[in-house]
Amino acid sequence: MEAGFKPLWRRATARPLYLLAGFPSICPMPSDASPAAILGQPLALPCGAVLKNRIAKSAMSDSLGDGRGNPTGAQSRLYRRWAEDGLALSIVGEVQPSPHYPEKPGNLVLAEDADAGAFRDLTRSATEPVADLWAQLGHAGALAHAPISHPKGPSALDVNGLTCEAMSAAEIRALPGLFATAAARAKSLGFTGVQIHAAHGFLLSQFLSPLFNRRTDAYGGSIPNRTAMIAEIVYAVRDAVGPAFPIAIKINSSDQLEGGLTETDALEVLRHLNATPLDIADISGGTYFPGAKPASDSAGGGPYFTDFAKRARAVWDKPLMVTGGFKTRQQAVGAIASGAADMIGLARALCLDTRLPNRWLSEGGDPDFPRFSATVAGGVTAWYTMRLAAMAEDRGEDFAMDLQEALESYEARDATRIRLWKERFGG
Ligand SMILES: Cc1cc2nc3c(=O)[nH]c(=O)nc-3n(C[C@H](O)[C@H](O)[C@H](O)COP(=O)(O)O)c2cc1C
Repeated sequence: MEAGFKPLWRRATARPLYLLAGFPSICPMPSDASPAAILGQPLALPCGAVLKNRIAKSAMSDSLGDGRGNPTGAQSRLYRRWAEDGLALSIVGEVQPSPHYPEKPGNLVLAEDADAGAFRDLTRSATEPVADLWAQLGHAGALAHAPISHPKGPSALDVNGLTCEAMSAAEIRALPGLFATAAARAKSLGFTGVQIHAAHGFLLSQFLSPLFNRRTDAYGGSIPNRTAMIAEIVYAVRDAVGPAFPIAIKINSSDQLEGGLTETDALEVLRHLNATPLDIADISGGTYFPGAKPASDSAGGGPYFTDFAKRARAVWDKPLMVTGGFKTRQQAVGAIASGAADMIGLARALCLDTRLPNRWLSEGGDPDFPRFSATVAGGVTAWYTMRLAAMAEDRGEDFAMDLQEALESYEARDATRIRLWKERFGG
């Protein structure tokens, strides 16, 4: 590695004023507050933005892009429906700053020549009913979708069937600028915030993980070094979007993988990131690395990460979103009331019932989660993705696929989109 290749954020001498000011504290609720009142409280972020209640759709790679990196009408309709049905915030999963390291060919791409009309239609549809829409800025790194990319991570890897090259020093140095340009573009296209994706084994999670990151320069080794790239990206994004625009991070509580990021490491990462101009951390866990355990394995039936989130309060003094395993309103209310979470992130529950937020903000009622009898590798994610497609096309009521059918449809859609992606972006 080059001498003098120092993370920029370490060179910062002064903290921006908005950090010195701290963020408005969250008013404690009376102990007899109703579930609807607890979930209905607005949440002020350090940047000054206010989320209207405590229910968010966590990032999902919804596979509703057109295969050329642009949103579709079906996608705009689905996000409008979620917003009309009471969500404070939706996060579009895996919006790519560059077309070269996508997670899937249904991802959106914040390319210079993106279809601004289609993006504005999406952001207008999702925000007009008075809700926030954030873009999750992704880079799949070593886990980039091989048919349309050339996977690269912090270090070269050849383990458990996963092979990738190491990024060059120049490619690493370009990352903060890449994310900053994408964030500015997201803002100009009408997104009301961004979430930096540093979870689930994708590029920035790879930087944090000793399993993926074997670098011996300023980006590898100690936890501050492994966190350095994320911090640089946060500062670059803040410079690009200004002080009043929300910047979130999605981060693993642990990789749940032998040799990966542990909970103790993750708390140290959060302690370092607490000094950066982030507004909220979204706690998740697990990776798509071959052989990784599912996040639900550690949870015993309830929400997966609330215990970790409570521990994170000691090192993170900004709002916390917690995502994973919320199936009932009681669980969501419990997480807020206990102080574990300020915001509840829901993914699968909102694939089952778009009306859930308004239900939880009024009389209550929980979704019926399916029980799958067969096990099909990749089938559950495919099932939820195809259900999203059905909802977006107003076919949700008739959706009756089993896991195998869902997987086949999902792969057939991806095959079509791979052709379109290659036509547009090459590769
Ligand atoms: C179909 C589907 C796609 C997902 N795509 C993403 C994604 O693009 N980015 C991300 O951070 N998480 C993604 N997730 C994970 C969810 O955001 C969430 O962390 C996880 O599903 C646990 O939450 P849940 O128990 O409410 O489903 C996805 C989940 C599903 C079901």
